[in-house]
Amino acid sequence: MAAESSKILVIGGTGYIGKFVVEASAKAGHPTFLLVRESTLSNPDKASILDKFKALGVNLVSGDLYDHESLVKAIKQVDVVISTVGHAQLGDQDKIISAIKEAGNVKRFFPSEFGNDVDRTSAVDPAKTAFATKSNIRRTVEAQGIPYTYVSSNFFAGYFLPNLSQPGATSPPRDKVVILGDGNSKSVWNKEEDIATYTIKAVDDPRTLNKILYVRPPANTLSFNELVSIWEKKIGKTLEKVYVPEEQVLKQIQESAPPLNVVLSITHSVYVKGDQTNFEIEESFGVEASQLYPDVKYTTVDEYLTQFV
Ligand SMILES: NC(=O)c1ccc[n+]([C@@H]2O[C@H](COP(=O)([O-])OP(=O)(O)OC[C@H]3O[C@@H](n4cnc5c(N)ncnc54)[C@H](OP(=O)(O)O)[C@@H]3O)[C@@H](O)[C@H]2O)c1
Repeated sequence: MAAESSKILVIGGTGYIGKFVVEASAKAGHPTFLLVRESTLSNPDKASILDKFKALGVNLVSGDLYDHESLVKAIKQVDVVISTVGHAQLGDQDKIISAIKEAGNVKRFFPSEFGNDVDRTSAVDPAKTAFATKSNIRRTVEAQGIPYTYVSSNFFAGYFLPNLSQPGATSPPRDKVVILGDGNSKSVWNKEEDIATYTIKAVDDPRTLNKILYVRPPANTLSFNELVSIWEKKIGKTLEKVYVPEEQVLKQIQESAPPLNVVLSITHSVYVKGDQTNFEIEESFGVEASQLYPDVKYTTVDEYLTQFV
């Protein structure tokens, strides 16, 4: 690993996953910069997170994805750019790519990914279109010759485990659980702090250059049936299991409105099709985070679920 610690700019660092990435970067000793909009700097709802960042020594740089000059100026101060912008801005990351080209100093770009491998997917719409947007950004990065790492972090634990992926529920089920498909495809759930830690470790690692960094640690790679069985052991109870055949899942996706159809189309791709694990990670395109960084003591799904008992 390189001896020096790269300077990192996070774009979208006040967002859900971005917060963890900024914190991990600062705590790992990287000079850390955060592009923030003026409106966010004066937003009382964001004051506590911005204060926390300041206490960690993070440099707040005023700017906007839609203000080219501000992007170039911010990017010129760093070596590495990590985008964690949200769904609505994914397609507009070509603006970051243009600014990186103009600045000319960036040695690694991490576009906003943090999910399934969007080039290896059998998703149906609306997830299909969202994944295609990320895939198009990958093609632009590659066409422009920008060094990159794509973080395929699979599922955020905080999104999919607190209710065991039961839409609308706010806690895990204690009587009945709905399982999409036969429950045998393997999926991966990772704690946000661990995703951020692995992302920052990849920044100065030549092994992750122009590669997909998959976060697929063995203890978190489980079938839905295995997930339910871990939960059942914890609460000392056997749940009633309702299996939903794929045709019915597809029908539900077509018949539901956003955001439910978005969630269902993602869970169809993962839980029914097995898109997070139905391919081998080959050296030519990818590396696996827990293998690269065995020193990271990641939180297992089993440990994570204990808090909900
Ligand atoms: N694997 C999973 O389970 C999972 C779950 C959810 C999301 N994801 C993925 O994670 C990635 C990040 O999503 P998220 O939900 O964490 O994002 P998010 O919470 O929506 O955060 C978006 C960030 O972008 C910033 N932003 C918005 N407009 C901007 C602009 N014009 N200029 C500069 N910054 C701007 C926002 O700033 P403000 O704070 O100022 O608004 C915020 O910091 C996405 O690729 C998403 O697909 C994965």
